[in-house]
Amino acid sequence: MEILHLILRYAHLLGFAMIFGGWLVAYLSRRYTVNVAMLWGTVVQLVTGIILAAPLPDREVQPDPAKLGVKLVLAVLLAVMIWIPHLKKRESSSKGHFIGIGALAAITAGVATFWT
Ligand code: HEM
Repeated sequence: MEILHLILRYAHLLGFAMIFGGWLVAYLSRRYTVNVAMLWGTVVQLVTGIILAAPLPDREVQPDPAKLGVKLVLAVLLAVMIWIPHLKKRESSSKGHFIGIGALAAITAGVATFWT
């Protein structure tokens, strides 16, 4: 069970890298368009996060349900902000919307890290 847990946590961190890395490259090149790394990163985050949220017998401290709820809401909001422009086939988003995506991804990672 421990190895499965570690693989899931690893995939969860790669999912964050996909979202934030994809966002950062686009933002720094001033192209406010969602990209495939961001799109699939949200799917990886939601799937691995929900599985990781299950009570695992080998975990010493179970994650706080309130923290998980907040993360779920933020992750769904982030997925909506990333998938809607893609599904509506928008060439690019407004700068404000794009900064919001990066900020929300950073805030969600902050909640994961600092809410102990
Ligand atoms: C964009 C959305 C998300 C981001 C950026 C994110 C980020 C992170 C990060 C950086 C960690 C590692 C924290 C650490 O080890 O100190 C983490 C862990 C975790 N996340 Fe997420 N997460 C997201 C979505 C979710 C969702 C939707 C859930 C489930 C409701 C979730 C559940 C968990 C759990 C249970 C852990 C602890 C893993 C462990 O200790 O093995 N995450 N998350």
